[in-house]
Amino acid sequence: MEIDVFTLFPEWFQWFRDQRHVRNALAAGTSLRCVNFREHTRLSGGQVDDTPFGGGAGMVLRVDVIDSALRAHYGVDPVLLPEQRRVIALTPGGRPLEDKLVDELAAEPALTLLCGRYEGFDERIVEHFASDQISIGSYVLSGGELAAMVVCDTILRKLPGTLGHEDSAVEESFSPALGGNPEYPHYTRPAEYRGWRVPEVLLSGHHERIEAWRRERSSERGEERRGAAGR
Ligand SMILES: C[S@@+](CC[C@H](N)C(=O)[O-])C[C@H]1O[C@@H](n2cnc3c(N)ncnc32)[C@H](O)[C@@H]1O
Repeated sequence: MEIDVFTLFPEWFQWFRDQRHVRNALAAGTSLRCVNFREHTRLSGGQVDDTPFGGGAGMVLRVDVIDSALRAHYGVDPVLLPEQRRVIALTPGGRPLEDKLVDELAAEPALTLLCGRYEGFDERIVEHFASDQISIGSYVLSGGELAAMVVCDTILRKLPGTLGHEDSAVEESFSPALGGNPEYPHYTRPAEYRGWRVPEVLLSGHHERIEAWRRERSSERGEERRGAAGR
């Protein structure tokens, strides 16, 4: 898979690239490249943003700058880019990032992530250059970089070679294997600590009963979560 991140802060991703599971993914053939919008502006002083029409606080990322950055990197008019690859604008109001969407993205050969800053994107960027808008939650970050890392991390752990144990990402919270529910609780040694005993079933060696116990706990957690969310 090829992931390109367009950002004003490519250096943030150096830390991310240095993490072991990300290094594993890169060694297994995934590419993660960063492009700095600022290197593609023709405006003086490296300007990439401007004041909003209609007034209001903050600065807005300019459509001409993002057009130049995408065009220089891919060598095509960016309006045609979504025909070749998914171009994702990270926005607080976008489609919520959930496991189903991560599966969808992990199956793509190539992705482009656009990180906003300040007040966000000129809307024409989202309308004409992006195929998707994705939100990592109903809150506002200062920029799209952390959101892009969250998107990348969730995708990379689904790719072969990223995690040590190939099955680790198959049966975990929200996966189809658990019917979309959170994962069941885990325990390890000691079997008893300060009087807190590990559930007996997990020490029984009885695989069918353990499996059934885990499904029940997972399903209970799903109910609790839906209840807490008022769904
Ligand atoms: C300060 S935010 C802009 C917020 C915007 N004015 C609003 O109220 O929706 C700057 C950038 O951070 C990113 N961002 C902030 N919160 C996000 C979220 N929950 N999910 C994805 N991206 C987010 C987006 O790229 C956004 O353009």
